[in-house]
Amino acid sequence: MLDSLKSELLAAVAAAGDLSALDEVRVTALGKKGRVTGLMKELGGLGAEERRARGGALNLLKDEIAAAIETRRGDLQALAQAARLEAERIDVSLPARPEAPGRIHPISQTVDELTAIFAEMGFTVAEGPDIEDDFHNFTALNFPPEHPAREMHDTFYLPDAADGRRMLLRTHTSPVQIRTMLTAKPPIRVIIPGRTYRSDYDMTHTPMFHQVEGLVVDESTHMGHLKGCLVEFCRAFFEIDDLPLRFRPSFFPFTEPSAEVDIGCSRKGGELKIGAYGDWLEILGCGMVHPNVLENCGIDSTRYQGFAFGMGIERIAMLKYGIPDLRTFFEADLRWLKHYGFVPLDIPNRAWS
Ligand code: DAH
Repeated sequence: MLDSLKSELLAAVAAAGDLSALDEVRVTALGKKGRVTGLMKELGGLGAEERRARGGALNLLKDEIAAAIETRRGDLQALAQAARLEAERIDVSLPARPEAPGRIHPISQTVDELTAIFAEMGFTVAEGPDIEDDFHNFTALNFPPEHPAREMHDTFYLPDAADGRRMLLRTHTSPVQIRTMLTAKPPIRVIIPGRTYRSDYDMTHTPMFHQVEGLVVDESTHMGHLKGCLVEFCRAFFEIDDLPLRFRPSFFPFTEPSAEVDIGCSRKGGELKIGAYGDWLEILGCGMVHPNVLENCGIDSTRYQGFAFGMGIERIAMLKYGIPDLRTFFEADLRWLKHYGFVPLDIPNRAWS
């Protein structure tokens, strides 16, 4: 009778298809009201001899069934895990996420790139307000009152400040040179990227545009440092190791001597290419900081000297990335952004080396 119960229970264990079915089999056989447990309860009514023999047989049966259940449990767990692994399989070679649809504007990308290059040369970034007064934008930069250079800037004037200061939208980033020199002590080594404003609008002018200014002031800086710095920057930014630069004498009220810088290019076949091709293209203005400017900021011009430069960010972005029309930068046309913009996780071009 125990043999047939044993084979019946072992068959039930083998037939249990999952862990909960197996647990039911366990309760039916070995639970408090289970069949083996029931038989054990009956032992009390037997004689001593018979009870020993039957008790031993029942204990054996119980152990065998319990072992069979444990073995089956292990098998079912392994099966369940295999099924889960199969169901949750992922292809780790797929891209992590769909590419983000947004793009980095070429101006932001260009600012990131030039900041990385100048940072490697030891420059930090300074900023100043878009709304300036006449003192910082012109007077302190050595523009004499009524000087025609003020007119060259097509300035947007604003109502005077309460204290009578003449207010305007800064026409260049140079006023931040003044703000920097009024607050920091030499040695100074900063770049100043930012928005600038002039009343002008055509293929190559927009009323708002961006410049980056550079300013270095210490006791021994000379024109050779200015030249070396700009040559290194232009070669790194345009990624052309033998890019030629030409320094032409020029005039700015806040530098003496002043120069405009051309880079090598070619215009063959109506196509503009940057490089050592024999032709020239102007990209920035620079010079040695005028002693009057240093003195206007309380810096002793007999002890300190410095160089400065300023360039248009749109202009160098257009040249590097082949963008033909300046006005398109600010039209917020999604097709243009998709075409000329940068994927957010792209790394700005290699740092200066
Ligand atoms: N501020 C000048 C402009 O907007 C550019 C410039 C020229 C800046 C020479 C400088 C410099 O710092 O030294 O036209």
